[in-house]
Amino acid sequence: MIPMSKKLIAGNWKMNGTLADLLEVSAIAAAAEDAKADAVLCPPATLIDRAVSATRGTRLRIGAQDCHANTSGAHTGDISAEMLADLGAAYVILGHSERRVDHGETSRTVAAKALAARRAGLNAIICVGETEGERAGGTTLAVVEEQLRTSIPEGASAANTTVAYEPVWAIGSGRVPTNEEIAEVHAALRAALSSRFGSEATGIRLLYGGSVKPSNAGSIFSIAGVDGALVGGASLKASDFAAILSAASGT
Ligand code: 13P
Repeated sequence: MIPMSKKLIAGNWKMNGTLADLLEVSAIAAAAEDAKADAVLCPPATLIDRAVSATRGTRLRIGAQDCHANTSGAHTGDISAEMLADLGAAYVILGHSERRVDHGETSRTVAAKALAARRAGLNAIICVGETEGERAGGTTLAVVEEQLRTSIPEGASAANTTVAYEPVWAIGSGRVPTNEEIAEVHAALRAALSSRFGSEATGIRLLYGGSVKPSNAGSIFSIAGVDGALVGGASLKASDFAAILSAASGT
């Protein structure tokens, strides 16, 4: 396996954060300056404009948590990939399990959104992951491979795609798969990406997400095939995010 040049740490603030938290965004940007890993922060849509302004000229990239598949039109409450790019966003998380559950998003919807992200010049962080029942039933690899196949459109490359393996049962639970379990899924996802996209897939980063925190980040980053992390709760505090960034810089 060809090692990635740098790890990527992406923070997902989910539905958290108000204007007062822009101080935390600036502190995360300051931490990213010294880090050897790349850093992305995905605040709620309401903060993207201000976060881009607050981090201009720094190494921290700003991303969104979802986009609509269309460019514009009669879609009340939705935001297009072009609108996000217009604000200066560089990434967009797509197909997070919370959106798959809360909004009934299917992998087919996710693929349409990924094409929209690509059209707008955004890098799509596409999430896959099994439920607790699927892991117990022994279908983890089949589930994530199917999600990967149907959520990522043709033509994926490192420039337009990042993949996040987020076991649903590990999100916000404090529970994390064993290093062997993470390595097994990442190896399967890497093999699937390579067989489908060939050399274009080489630089596509494969992140792990689910209860990543300063105390377990170093161990997770030592796992072969883990190119970074998608971090929820621990991305809300700059000190935690900074500790995860420095754990990634040492690997
Ligand atoms: P936690 O890090 O809070 O478990 O969330 C993970 C996640 O869902 C990131 O997208």
